[in-house]
Amino acid sequence: MQTYYVTTPIYYVNDEPHLGHMYTTIAADVLARHQRLSGKDTFFLTGTDEHGQKVQQAAEARGIAPIDLANQVVERYESLWPELHISHDDFIRTSSERHHKAVQAMWRRLEGAGAIYKDFYEDWYCIPCETYWTETQLKDAECWETHTCPDCQRAVEKIQEESYFFRLSAFQEPLLAHIRANPDFIAPESRRNEVLSFVEGGLRDLSVSRTTFSWGIPVPGDEKHVIYVWIDALTNYLTAAGFPEQEIPKHWPADVHLIGKDILRFHAVYWPCMLMAAGLPLPKRIYAHGWWTVEGEKMSKSKGNALRPADLLEHYESDVLRYFLLREVPFGQDGDFSVEALKSRYNSELANDVGNLLNRSLAMLKKYNNSILGARGDEQEMDRALIADVEAMQRDVDAYLQRQAFHLALERINQLVKHGNRYVEENAPWGLAKAGETARLNTVLYHLVESLRLIALQLSPFMPEKMAVMLGQIMNDDVDVNALRLLDDAGWGKLQEGHVCQAASPIFPRMDVA
Ligand code: MSP
Repeated sequence: MQTYYVTTPIYYVNDEPHLGHMYTTIAADVLARHQRLSGKDTFFLTGTDEHGQKVQQAAEARGIAPIDLANQVVERYESLWPELHISHDDFIRTSSERHHKAVQAMWRRLEGAGAIYKDFYEDWYCIPCETYWTETQLKDAECWETHTCPDCQRAVEKIQEESYFFRLSAFQEPLLAHIRANPDFIAPESRRNEVLSFVEGGLRDLSVSRTTFSWGIPVPGDEKHVIYVWIDALTNYLTAAGFPEQEIPKHWPADVHLIGKDILRFHAVYWPCMLMAAGLPLPKRIYAHGWWTVEGEKMSKSKGNALRPADLLEHYESDVLRYFLLREVPFGQDGDFSVEALKSRYNSELANDVGNLLNRSLAMLKKYNNSILGARGDEQEMDRALIADVEAMQRDVDAYLQRQAFHLALERINQLVKHGNRYVEENAPWGLAKAGETARLNTVLYHLVESLRLIALQLSPFMPEKMAVMLGQIMNDDVDVNALRLLDDAGWGKLQEGHVCQAASPIFPRMDVA
């Protein structure tokens, strides 16, 4: 069976879940659900990034141990995901024993390959703030001439710290060759170009251990060093897949790592170089999405405008949020979350288009034939065009989702829904009923209901809860959307003559715009 592996970034535990975390996880969930529907052996991973100085400091500020802080935040994520119908197969925590083992195994592989060496790391240090500054940071903050701390304006001093280094520079050419030979490796195109020019500018070896804090995974054999948090974090994708018990786990390499644009360099430069050094296959694709603003403003803790998933869920159903986030903004671009945009998208595409097609079709079936599907008569041109459009939609949605073009997949389904509504107008079933053209009426109603079934099937990865209800009305039975498979369910003509549907009951009532 073909495998499919999709990941989200692992989220820091020094922050609460917000819109950004929810966005990537929903996107990954849609891909995982779509691939399961397509029959692939799918593995969908999310989790938390729990080590590092920031987490240690955040815990100290609260007077608790880092692991206790991590446990609290992890619980928030673990209780949020079911509410958003996230269907992850695993939740990785970097503080777990299995991850500890995997990171140390990765370290030994890198060391064994001669990709790690010990040297001195030089930086500027502000003792009162306990903060390190690079020369560039001091220059950017106009503190270079005075050698003062950009935060507190007191003197910074040059310190030397023993550190392990990763030979990143040795992988500049192999990485460039890989990116050039694999045009789909980094997406979207603009991000690929960004990485190419960064790497062409030259790669410097990377300091990959610290001795100034302890909350992390020790370097094997030199315990006063803690492994750099990004080496630790990136390895999570292998841990959960089964490394090092399996040298190359069944689901490795990942089909796609979904990330935000701010962590592109770590995923598209450091991670592939680490894997090359370790002699392991590279992920097939890295997709960096854009950032959300809220009502036109950047989300920030200080402004207090970071959208919390729990608050959003008090006002909007999970599926509505899922639809809006993936429909409104092309994946890869920045976008704005506004209540007005959400309501307008919902009212036009879900209430007016899908909801209306479902309600009117089931209502007519009830009115004209007691909710029973009659025999399909001879197909006319209009019927064949509708069927062809359904089949083309199925192919297009798959092609769009192969390249994470969520908004295009949803737009394509919406085009078909609009086609369905036109088909109703063009065939005017009420006229056929009046004229007693029963055979044609049955044919038209059949085509409507069968199209709706296949629309719901393709929408189910995006809106699993709503589509279970929609399919329930069509099938007149409970439908487990997780058990659907295209192979069994996606063919035209599965509904049989004599099948009884339920009466219409609106699943997308219009939202009040005021
Ligand atoms: N722990 C690292 C990732 C390690 S992956 C091996 C991390 N964590 S994070 O919690 O800070 O961020 C997680 C993700 O949230 C990032 O992909 C980031 O791009 C995303 N977002 C943060 N703010 C965002 C928006 N305003 N909009 C969309 N995504 C945003 O980075």
